[in-house]
Amino acid sequence: MRVTDEIKSRLDIVDLISETVSLRRSGRSYAGFCPFHPNSRTPAFFVFPETQTWRCFGACAEGGDVFSFVMKQNGWDFKEALQNLAKRAGVELEPRKPVDKKKKARQEKLADLLAAASDYFHQLFLHAPQAAAAREYIQKRGLTEQTIETFQIGFALNSWDACRSHFNGQGYTDEDLLGVGLLTENPDKGTRYDRFRNRLLIPIRDVDGRTVGFGARTLEKDGLPKYLNSPQTVFFDKSRLLFGLDMARRHIREARQAVIVEGYMDVLQAWQAGFRNVIAQMGTALTEPQLRQLKRYTKTFVLALDADAAGMKATLRSLQVARETLDREVEVKFDAHGLVRHEGRLKADIRIVTLPEGQDPDDIIRQNPEQWPQLVAQAKPVTSYVIDVLTADLDMNDAKGKTAVAQQIIPLIKDISEPVERDHYWQQLARALHIEERTLRLVQIPERRRPSPIPSAPPPPINGKSKPRVMAVPGATPIIPEMRQENFLRQCLRNRQILRLVDTRLQSCGESLVGEADFDRPEDKALIRQIRQLAATPAVAADGELWDSLDDVLHERVDTLLALPPSPENEPERLADTLVLSVLDWRLVQVKKEIDAIKQHYRDAQAAHDQDVLETYQHTLQELLLVVLRLNKARDAMSASGRRRSQDDERYGRKH
Ligand code: UTP
Ligand code: MN
Repeated sequence: MRVTDEIKSRLDIVDLISETVSLRRSGRSYAGFCPFHPNSRTPAFFVFPETQTWRCFGACAEGGDVFSFVMKQNGWDFKEALQNLAKRAGVELEPRKPVDKKKKARQEKLADLLAAASDYFHQLFLHAPQAAAAREYIQKRGLTEQTIETFQIGFALNSWDACRSHFNGQGYTDEDLLGVGLLTENPDKGTRYDRFRNRLLIPIRDVDGRTVGFGARTLEKDGLPKYLNSPQTVFFDKSRLLFGLDMARRHIREARQAVIVEGYMDVLQAWQAGFRNVIAQMGTALTEPQLRQLKRYTKTFVLALDADAAGMKATLRSLQVARETLDREVEVKFDAHGLVRHEGRLKADIRIVTLPEGQDPDDIIRQNPEQWPQLVAQAKPVTSYVIDVLTADLDMNDAKGKTAVAQQIIPLIKDISEPVERDHYWQQLARALHIEERTLRLVQIPERRRPSPIPSAPPPPINGKSKPRVMAVPGATPIIPEMRQENFLRQCLRNRQILRLVDTRLQSCGESLVGEADFDRPEDKALIRQIRQLAATPAVAADGELWDSLDDVLHERVDTLLALPPSPENEPERLADTLVLSVLDWRLVQVKKEIDAIKQHYRDAQAAHDQDVLETYQHTLQELLLVVLRLNKARDAMSASGRRRSQDDERYGRKH
């Protein structure tokens, strides 16, 4: 038996959850108030002893087994959950294999190297005669000793090999230095040299305060690039990191707000002035992983970005991401009125500040610190901001321009869950465009924008006269979802292009990307999360390395998955066509199973005359039936486009 199964078989989920949630029996299940969201009216949280699962039918709409419960409750990752539950169940975890130890040792060595490098550069900054200009520069920018100390500001000597020989002398090889991006290699000439030369070094730390890379500012006027950053490494992934989060997270939680700026210096200056809930996205557009990370601390974000045109575009790009991230969250809590009910409760509040022309937060805070909190307080809600920005330079005689603007803004308005708020923006847009609100509501939104998660069909009756059709894979032997899930993971492990190809397809039909919720096994949930993380890291060169860098507790699972013989060589596009259908099919089977279970609970509750829970089940059933409709629609669309692609391939003689 697999260790997770063994643990589950020895624990009772009702016992475990009862320790923190007070549950009452209702038929064959237990009901209580959800510990994960404010819930005090009707019980939304259920535990099912028969399947040893739990589920919240309210705002979180999540569920799972003991693993997912303790992970969510304690903020543990899979490994922590495994260790803790194993202890509780009295299950001994196998010691790590020696190979893993070796890999771990290397990771630790590199982490130590990064920490040592941070210290090395900092000492140079403080004491090296060659750093006099750097010290003067920092002083000119108004940073105090305390700030320098807190952020460990450093300096790299103007030399091609000072850093390299320093660390070679301490037992670090060139491979180590290349691995963390301190050394650069010229593959043509075969030369290696220090990456950072005569620059001011700002260590970039992860959320736990470990140095993962550096941002290095030129000290020459108009030197290029202005900031040279560490290359993408296993440790350093700019699209996931937020500069300053290690220092800011406590303050973000306390202030219930995260202020996101663009640059390193902005964070330093804000921190020094006592504005400590400030972090930087390091010049790139805000990404989904960054937002997700932040959502652990607050749901209120203020984006404070430059006023220049580029800044404005970056803001709109960020918004797009923000909206998609949050949408997806909402999409899981799918159904027409459920959407409306839930969205208001869980949506994040995103506001935008436009900074005065030509000034960044650094300038503002230095020149006029009181202005900063005022600006932040004046941040506009996203929709207002977008309306203002897009209508600002619009010629009111340009009818086509007005339509285009309306088409951009309306989907945003339609997504707002709160009716008063939504109406407010219809009115605001109408005023801004000088168009009747009635007319605006007739504007057609081009298809490709973003498929609405709400199907246009009315919800089917609950007792199922019009039975939702759940399709089987044509011509295939019925495959259980577990095999599909395993196959999916296997293909992703074999070729990391696959995940991206499947993502594109799911996006094109408006379905959520394959994620933790799709998998039944706790280790598979952890696995897909890591695959996603690693697939986004270009530094992972070969596919073999993808799973080498997975957490060692997952190795056993990976070994099992890869032990099966590879399927006959398939061209990636074709494979993705097949996989996306398989995903939709397994989702259908899962939803179907859930519908059956809930119908059973519904009958139980009816027998027990438990009005409260009846209502909850009823809503959930409706939601799930809509999901079935939506999935079937997506499946039809996907199989049609897959067929088209393969016909094209044949027509043009592409062969596989
Ligand atoms: P800015 O050009 O606004 O720099 O880039 P800044 O933070 O105001 O820097 P100072 O005040 O001139 O020293 C904003 C951010 O974009 C990233 C950095 O994270 C920077 O802080 N950036 C910018 C780079 O990574 N590379 C660059 O060449 C420029
Ligand atoms: Mn600046």
